[in-house]
Amino acid sequence: MSFMQIKDLCVHYPIRGGFFNTIVDHVYAVDGISMEFEKGKTYGLVGESGCGKSTTGKAIIGLEKVTSGQIIYEGQDVTKMRRSGKSGFNRDVQMIFQDSHSSMNPRKRIRDVIAEPIRNFLRLSEQEERKRVNELLAIVGMQEDAQYKYPHEFSGGQKQRLGIARAMACRPKLIIADEPVSALDLSVQAQVLNFMKDIQEEFGVTYLFISHDLGVVKHMCDEINIMYRGRFVEKGHREDIYDDPRHIYTHRLLSAIPDIEPETRVERKQERLKVSQYYKENQHKFFDKDGKVYPLQSISDTHAVALASIEGGM
Ligand SMILES: Nc1ncnc2c1ncn2[C@@H]1O[C@H](COP(=O)(O)OP(=O)(O)O)[C@@H](O)[C@H]1O
Ligand SMILES: [Mg+2]
Repeated sequence: MSFMQIKDLCVHYPIRGGFFNTIVDHVYAVDGISMEFEKGKTYGLVGESGCGKSTTGKAIIGLEKVTSGQIIYEGQDVTKMRRSGKSGFNRDVQMIFQDSHSSMNPRKRIRDVIAEPIRNFLRLSEQEERKRVNELLAIVGMQEDAQYKYPHEFSGGQKQRLGIARAMACRPKLIIADEPVSALDLSVQAQVLNFMKDIQEEFGVTYLFISHDLGVVKHMCDEINIMYRGRFVEKGHREDIYDDPRHIYTHRLLSAIPDIEPETRVERKQERLKVSQYYKENQHKFFDKDGKVYPLQSISDTHAVALASIEGGM
């Protein structure tokens, strides 16, 4: 059973122009996407830069205005609720960003940074709060004395771990992780992802994991949504996406996974050429005459693709 549903979410930004600075057009940043979240699972949201991933995350937690569609949390429509009216939702849904540094006040010690959500949402005594901060630091593998330091004293990977600790402070149900490891070296990426997995096993938290790289999300996600220009072109279980991709754009993202094995590099390059050749000849199967994404159609219980016709995948 899902505890949260996103239905036909749209976020359109007005573009103003002309003499009277009127609305002349819109950016269709998010243009009708639906998702469901179950406890303890990881959902991927993958697509190239500018396709609307961050806008989706921000709209869900209420940092961007929703143009239309619904966000249902535990049976309640929280889409248009004012912040003060949905404190349970605000406590239970947290977001971490690619650059934790900019979301931490540089003049505050780590203890105060991590305790911020606790002070907003829970009534804990000073002693209880201290205990909680120590627990949170332990969860992300940091020493207790880290709490007396300032954000700039930590490396990028450590700061991401501190960001995760802060997001976990009030035991959220859903953490939206917007490219949480994209700025980190490969070895550090793996370490941060492992902490996220451990936390999930221990606390049953759900993740919406945003990335531009299908390689990064491969070992994290149970279900994956492939996003292109504000819409989903394909969604499915991990196996559907990696072993049986149908949309040309999914193929393109798969062939773009950075390859560290020199032996398969030539193969990869050929795969990329094949995808681009296929696209030239079969564009109409994947996008309508205006270049828009078709509606999603189910091809199995778990797998849906946006194609002109179900038989027409790559
Ligand atoms: N505040 C805004 N006003 C107008 N357009 C915006 C705004 N924020 C983002 N956009 C546009 O919306 C689209 C999606 O952006 P974003 O969600 O940041 O993409 P992603 O996170 O996938 O890189 C982009 O074309 C971007 O330029
Ligand atoms: Mg983004």
